[in-house]
Amino acid sequence: MALLIRNLSQIATPRGTTGLRFVRDLTVYERSVIVIDGGRFAYVGPERDKPPHLVIDDDFDARGGTAIPGFVDTHTHLPFAGYRESEFNRRLKGESYEQIAASGGGIASTVRATRAASEEELRDNVAARARMMSRYGTTTAEAKSGYGLNLEDELKQLRAIRSADSPVRLVPTCLAAHDFPPGRRGDAAYVDEVVEHILPAVAEAKLAVFCDAFVERGVFTREQGERVLRAGAAIGLIPRLHADELSDTDGAALAASLGAASADHLMYVSDRGIAALAASDTVANLLPGTSFFLMSDRYAPARKLIDAGAIVSLSTDCNPGSSMTESMPMAIQLATLQMKMTVEESLTAATLNGAYSLRLADSIGSIEVGKRADLVLLSAPNYLHLVYHFGVNLVRAVFRDGTHLS
Ligand code: NIG
Ligand code: FE
Repeated sequence: MALLIRNLSQIATPRGTTGLRFVRDLTVYERSVIVIDGGRFAYVGPERDKPPHLVIDDDFDARGGTAIPGFVDTHTHLPFAGYRESEFNRRLKGESYEQIAASGGGIASTVRATRAASEEELRDNVAARARMMSRYGTTTAEAKSGYGLNLEDELKQLRAIRSADSPVRLVPTCLAAHDFPPGRRGDAAYVDEVVEHILPAVAEAKLAVFCDAFVERGVFTREQGERVLRAGAAIGLIPRLHADELSDTDGAALAASLGAASADHLMYVSDRGIAALAASDTVANLLPGTSFFLMSDRYAPARKLIDAGAIVSLSTDCNPGSSMTESMPMAIQLATLQMKMTVEESLTAATLNGAYSLRLADSIGSIEVGKRADLVLLSAPNYLHLVYHFGVNLVRAVFRDGTHLS
């Protein structure tokens, strides 16, 4: 009972069950086939070498396309209500993201809209965004709360992630320490609330795998971020960290010292932070869509991170304020054309290295026998077209756990 994907011009994938450093090449199979059995890859290679015990009962004509692993988007703020297109328009006319936030917009406006939304509305928003993601090749995504900023509304966001009818495998993160609640800027009692009430309730209800905090000038201090992440880790929530996004707060070194799964953004990471990440297993998660959308010249120093030996992943940061996109191909195009990553590095970052940061690299992130059959079929003769043929959607078909998503 197996599915044969035939007529592929190329299969391109990283290989392994851990995050990769110093990526040079992908494994590339020319004119080969893929066999999927029981939701997993059962064979990858030339058709003539296919083991005879694999009985094919279905086939899929790839029509000369290229297969790559399903994208793993490890940083999204999916369960939000309302959009911020008018703030976006103000930014186009010259105001900065921080100015808009200081005038009552920014995260606070999404918090108001998200608190006002019902759980069902958020669930439908998550499902709709997940469908959009899958049309662009994402098969697994992390999804953060962080627009509730109180016990009830953080739980509501996380329940919406859990109950959404999503074609994408979703991995939830509690980001109760995204910001201080509206009207309570700098109120240290909110940090107590996160540590003493919100994280324990989330862990108790098993609503998240990870916890996250936004350590930033004017938001949480390094000490507050550390307290939140240590409290989370003590009850089984693995840390991730929004680090060095708008200024250098030594966030990367903090993430590495906590053994965090990832340090995210890193536009302002210092040489000390780069060295700390390179010496650790904490993944440097880069989100070039945010620099692009904030119209900043400042992208994370991907080359320095990679050349120092850090494990690098790539994500969309899908959120209504600083990166309104579900497209991983867009993140890959920006990574190569703006951050000077190679296509091979970008594709590894967007698949296997992301899977590693979600602690899932033993089961997803590459096209290898035994792994879950998550793959993207591109209308392209080879993987280079993913960047070379930019600004269009080359995704022709997506399979998750061996099921063809439509
Ligand atoms: O990842 N850094 C903080 N959080 C988001 C922005 C959220 C928003 O503007 O709503 C980010 O960029
Ligand atoms: Fe974010």
